Amino acid sequence: MRTFCEAIKESDMGKDFTFKGWVMHYRDHGGLIFIDLRDYSGILQMVFDENIDSKSFKTAKKLKNEYVVSVTGTVRRRPEGTENRSLKTGSLEIIAKSVLILNACEALPFQIDEESEVNEFTRLKYRYIDLRSKRLKENLIFRSRFTHLIREFLNGKGFFDIETPFLTKSTPEGSRDFLVPSRLNHGQFFALPQSPQLFKQILMVSGFERYYQIVRCFRDEDLRADRQPEFTQLDMEMSFVETKEIISLTEELFISIFKNLLNISIEQSFKVMDYDNAMDKYGSDKPDTRFGLILIDLTDIFKNSSFNLFKENIQKGGIIKAICLENGANLLSRKDIDELLNIVKDFGGKGLAWTKVSQNNMLEGGISKFVSGDEGNALIAKLEAKNGDIIFYQSDSKKTVENVLGRLRLYLAKNYGLIGEDNFNFLWVVNFPLFEYSEEEKKIVAVHHPFTSPAQKDLDLLEKNPLAAKSDSYDLVLNGEEIGGGSIRIHNSGLQRKIFEILSVSPEDTKHKFGFLLDALSFGAPPHGGIAFGLDRILMILRKEESIRDVIAFPKTQKGYCPLSDAPSPVKENQLRELGIKINQTPLKNII
Ligand code: AMO
Repeated sequence: MRTFCEAIKESDMGKDFTFKGWVMHYRDHGGLIFIDLRDYSGILQMVFDENIDSKSFKTAKKLKNEYVVSVTGTVRRRPEGTENRSLKTGSLEIIAKSVLILNACEALPFQIDEESEVNEFTRLKYRYIDLRSKRLKENLIFRSRFTHLIREFLNGKGFFDIETPFLTKSTPEGSRDFLVPSRLNHGQFFALPQSPQLFKQILMVSGFERYYQIVRCFRDEDLRADRQPEFTQLDMEMSFVETKEIISLTEELFISIFKNLLNISIEQSFKVMDYDNAMDKYGSDKPDTRFGLILIDLTDIFKNSSFNLFKENIQKGGIIKAICLENGANLLSRKDIDELLNIVKDFGGKGLAWTKVSQNNMLEGGISKFVSGDEGNALIAKLEAKNGDIIFYQSDSKKTVENVLGRLRLYLAKNYGLIGEDNFNFLWVVNFPLFEYSEEEKKIVAVHHPFTSPAQKDLDLLEKNPLAAKSDSYDLVLNGEEIGGGSIRIHNSGLQRKIFEILSVSPEDTKHKFGFLLDALSFGAPPHGGIAFGLDRILMILRKEESIRDVIAFPKTQKGYCPLSDAPSPVKENQLRELGIKINQTPLKNII
C-alpha cells in the first residue's frame, strides 16, 4: 500500500511506509544519498545510508532527477539543524530500506520550477513537465476545487447540469466561428459553439427552469493575455426570473466560493454602476474601481477658450475631459510624460495635453500658456487639483476621449502603484445600450447578443430610435476585468423577429439561422434569463496570474497553436477528399 508524502506526521515516527513519486532533487554525500521525493501531495526527504541498507544504496546511486521510484522505509526525525522549514514534512525523513526504479527520465529540456529564461513555446511543448511545477500544479488543483464548489452550490439550489452540443450552428456572440466540415453532407459545416446561448434558452422552453453547465466555448478571435480560442464558461439560465434574482444568486455563489476556498468574506451586495456612468467617469464598461483618477468633463470651461485646438473640437461636437494624477509631479519625470504621448497614440489618441499644478493654484508646463487664468481656476476647482498634481487632457470625439483616458487611467494606476492593497472589487455594470452603430460593419449591431431583452420602458424606442434603447442586461466586473455577463432574454417570437429586423438580418437569414429558436419561442416559452462567467478569467485573477494560460492545463499560444500536439496541422489529401474540400493555398508554415 502506498502512502502520500504529505500524509506523514510526527506520530508516525518509527513506522514503515511505501512512497511512490518522482526524484525531485538528488544529493550524493558519499556514504549517504538524499533525495526529495515528490508526489501529487508534496515533498518528503528519503535517505539512503550505505551502512544501513547497502542494496538500496547501490540502486539509489543510479537515480537521477525525475526518475520515477518506489521507496519503502522508516519515518524518523531529521537531525537537529537539518530541518527544512519550507516543507510541510520538513522535520521528518524516511530512512530507506528498499527502492525500485519504476521508470527512467531523459535530461530535461528545462528545470522544473525554473522561472528563468525558458521561453513559453518550450514550456508549452513540454507542458507535462511544466505542469509538475508547484505553481501550475496548485493552479490546476485550485481550479478543480473551484468547479467542485460551483457544482455543489448550484446542485443545492435545484440547478440541473445539462450538456449541449459542440457540433452545432453558429451562435452570434460577436466573434468568428470555428467550422467543422461535414463528411456526410459535403459543403456543409457545423460551427463549434461560441456559447451554449440558444440551447440553454431552448432548455427553458422545455421546462427545466434551472440549468447550468461548466462548458467549453470556442471563439476564433485575436488572442490576448485574458483570451483563449477555447475557454470555459460557467453558463446558467433560469425561468420566471428577474434581474435582481440572478444578481443575488450570483452574489451568493461568489460569497460561498470565496469563503470555502479562500476563507475570504466578501460583502453582499456588490456595487452597481450604470453603463453611462461607467463610460462617463471611468471611460470603460468594465471600470476598475479600486482607485480614483476619475474622468472629469471640462467641455463647458473650454467652450469659449482662446485655445483654438480645444475650442474648434468643441464646435465640431467633440468634448474635453481630464484626469488628475495626485502628486504626479513627483511620480513622473519630464521623460515619462513624453513617453506617455506615445502610449496615448497606441490607445488611439492624437496627442496628450498636460499641465502641472504649482503653488497658489497656478498651472505650469505643457499647455498652461494657452489656458487663461479664469479657465485655470475653474478647472482646478472642478478637478479638485492640488499643488504637485498633473492634469492630463483629451480633446476629441466623446468615444475617443473616454477610450483614451480610460486606458491612460489604467496605465497610470498600474505603473505608479495606485492600486494598492490586494483586494477583490466586484462591480455590476447595468443598463447597457441594446444596440450600437458599428462603423466597421456600417450597421446597427447588438451590444451583448441579439437575444437580450430591451428594457421594458424602452420598448417603444425600438421603432423610433433603437440606438437610444437600453437592455435588461448586466455584466459582472472583478478588479477591472469582465468576468461575466448576462441578460433577461426575449421570450416572444414577434419581438425577437423585430430585433433581427433592426439588426438588418434578412428574412431568409432569420429563417435559416434562427428559425429553430423562433419556432421554440412560439411554443410556450417562459420568461427567462441567465448569465455566463469566464471561468479561466476568474481563476487568473484569484491566482494572481498574468496570463490565462497559467490556469489552463493545455492552452494555446497567442497564435492559437498547441506546441505540445502540433495543432493545427495539415491533413492528408484523402481526408480532404472525403470531406469534399480542396485547399487552393499552400499551408502557412510560420504558425509559431
Ligand atoms: P459573453 O460573450 O460575455 O457572454 O461571455 C461570458 C464571459 O466569458 C468570458 N470570455 C472569455 N474568456 C476567455 N477567452 C475568451 N476568448 C473569452 N470570451 C469571453 C468573459 C465573458 O464575460 N452567452 C452569453 C452569456 C449570457 O448571456 O448568458 C455570453 O457568452 O469573462
